[in-house]
Amino acid sequence: MKLIYFSGTGNSLYAAKRLGGELLAVQALQKSGIYEITGPAVGIICPVYGFTVPYFVREYLEKATIRSDYVFAVMTFGNSAMAALGCMKEILEKRGAALHYGNEIKMVDNYLPLFEMSRQAAMGKEERFELELDRIIQDIQERKQVFPRHSLFKRLVSSAFSALWENKQAMARRDKGFIITDRCNACGTCRKLCPAGNIAGTGKPVYKGRCAFCLGCIHLCPQNAIHLKNERSGKRFRNPHVTAAELIQGNTGGGAVKAL
Ligand SMILES: Cc1cc2nc3c(=O)[nH]c(=O)nc-3n(C[C@H](O)[C@H](O)[C@H](O)COP(=O)(O)O)c2cc1C
Repeated sequence: MKLIYFSGTGNSLYAAKRLGGELLAVQALQKSGIYEITGPAVGIICPVYGFTVPYFVREYLEKATIRSDYVFAVMTFGNSAMAALGCMKEILEKRGAALHYGNEIKMVDNYLPLFEMSRQAAMGKEERFELELDRIIQDIQERKQVFPRHSLFKRLVSSAFSALWENKQAMARRDKGFIITDRCNACGTCRKLCPAGNIAGTGKPVYKGRCAFCLGCIHLCPQNAIHLKNERSGKRFRNPHVTAAELIQGNTGGGAVKAL
């Protein structure tokens, strides 16, 4: 089984690790120019961003050819996925691939402008996630073909947000709200982690205006030195089953992470 994945703070990578198989980070595939994925089963695991598919996962899938008798997608989300899976299905269908199975799993919502990380962590989402994931793993092992039905409202919201994410001017503004405090010791973790290659400089991070807004640099800064102007609190989140080194390895195209 091959798993194409992206993860900003580890939820989706943890799900991918639990699913097992060969883990292929989107950035590593892009960097190596691998756009043909063939296997008896191929899965796509990633978070929901703005009710849709993260734009760089979309960018990859829009160029990729997936050849498999069983294609599935699992998306992690925090509070509402709307019809993000429907967007994923559309992208794949345009590339001639069917999506045989799709599921969403609720997890800690890492979106700092809206959510407070200690409250998110205290909601018991991680325990429920394990149970949901067990069920999904079983579905996939049994090659079940199930896909959630989304209302017209959800589909409209998700497709409107998909258009917003593609707005390059908005993308250029995203990292303008980042504040680097004096706690920064120029360790370079943010630079190594950034899936968009958006951080320059050898000292304090210098953002280049093509931010994917995964918030990985903020959540994983060892000094908690990077803040958003509009964050709900200074608390940060990383999935406890995933290390910063694993996220760096995947996000910067350094290669695959091992399954559990
Ligand atoms: C830019 C951004 C947008 C997000 N949008 C949504 C959303 O629309 N709906 C939702 O439920 N969660 C949303 N989230 C939360 C993530 O989907 C959720 O925390 C996910 O599990 C993170 O996965 P990861 O740890 O693999 O990056 C968003 C997070 C970020 C950073």
